[in-house]
Amino acid sequence: MPQPHTAPHLPDRARHIVLRRRPVGVPTPDCFELVETPMPQPGEGQMLVRMRVGSVDPAIRGFLDDRPSYLPPVALGAPVTGMSLGEVVASRHADWPVGTLVRVLGTWSDHYVIGPDALGLERVDPQPGVPLRAYMGALGPVGLTAWIGLVAVGQAKPGDTVLVSAAAGATGSTVVQLARAMGCRVVGLAGGPDKAALVRRMGADVAIDHRCDPATLAAALDAAAPQGFDVYFDNVGGPLLDAVLPRMREGGRIPLCGMIAQYNHADHPHGVTQLWQLVVKRLTLRGFLTYDHADRLAEAQATLDRLHHSGQLVPLENLHHGFEALPAAFIALMQGHTTGKTLVEV
Ligand SMILES: NC(=O)c1ccc[n+]([C@@H]2O[C@H](COP(=O)([O-])OP(=O)(O)OC[C@H]3O[C@@H](n4cnc5c(N)ncnc54)[C@H](OP(=O)(O)O)[C@@H]3O)[C@@H](O)[C@H]2O)c1
Repeated sequence: MPQPHTAPHLPDRARHIVLRRRPVGVPTPDCFELVETPMPQPGEGQMLVRMRVGSVDPAIRGFLDDRPSYLPPVALGAPVTGMSLGEVVASRHADWPVGTLVRVLGTWSDHYVIGPDALGLERVDPQPGVPLRAYMGALGPVGLTAWIGLVAVGQAKPGDTVLVSAAAGATGSTVVQLARAMGCRVVGLAGGPDKAALVRRMGADVAIDHRCDPATLAAALDAAAPQGFDVYFDNVGGPLLDAVLPRMREGGRIPLCGMIAQYNHADHPHGVTQLWQLVVKRLTLRGFLTYDHADRLAEAQATLDRLHHSGQLVPLENLHHGFEALPAAFIALMQGHTTGKTLVEV
């Protein structure tokens, strides 16, 4: 049997973060456990990848529940599903040699084996001087999601008034900057005065702290856009969606990126009571998954690279270090404490 081409200094053990207990509400440390196994070996046509940058995403919370979603649930005792940027360190596939940098939906494992058909597998070709982690954030899936939602789904155009929720978060902070660069008027919703101030610094014309009573929130939305919003890039769902629906402009678009407000309590989601506004205002509310828009990704990537190069897109990051930091970073994200993209450099 031919031996794989292998990088020097490969450890003989791999580490994994496995799901020990399904979370109830916000995840807690005892839901996860760090385990070691012998280093897995790539079979014919496969490669072994070493994680360099782990991505910490709200969607992972959904995979920890035992319920159908767009990906299967994580089994108890199995490594947590997650995206990462890694380096091929052993290969039995000529097209994916040792040293290739890849982005892929893998597992929370510091080394994992994949085949060429692995979900979301892409080559990463970093530009000189740009840190690798940017390709897991604003120049990677985060930026692509922001662009696909804003442009391909939301049909935003110069002069539109764009509202975005979780505007200090990973996707939201990128939407703020993209919309501004497009010549839109940008209004951000964020939880707390510090996050609101950050959203203004990211370039929003108006930032609203949504942690207030409903009447105050309604008045702030009305003041920010007396004519209503053309686009609502929604990351959270829940009561904010209800508050925004009556404040959309006729013909407005709502790209529904996610509903993080209900991920910790998926059995008891907040009901949306204002859907009649879709008829009144002839609105389009459309859910999307970034990688369903494969035909637009090259255009999206080119825009992100150009805006980053010109200084109009500055990645906002919440950076952690060390493989074992993944669970704590995820818990903080799901507590709503973070700003920017949560990443773990391994
Ligand atoms: N459709 C796709 O292809 C796709 C791809 C990537 C992400 N997404 C979705 O996009 C949304 C944003 O993801 P992201 O990675 O950019 O994360 P993020 O915005 O950085 O997420 C954290 C923020 O969400 C807000 N939030 C509201 N309710 C929350 C709750 N109950 N628990 C925790 N946080 C809450 C908080 O901001 P405030 O304090 O400001 O409210 C929090 O800081 C998520 O819904 C995610 O599932 C979708």
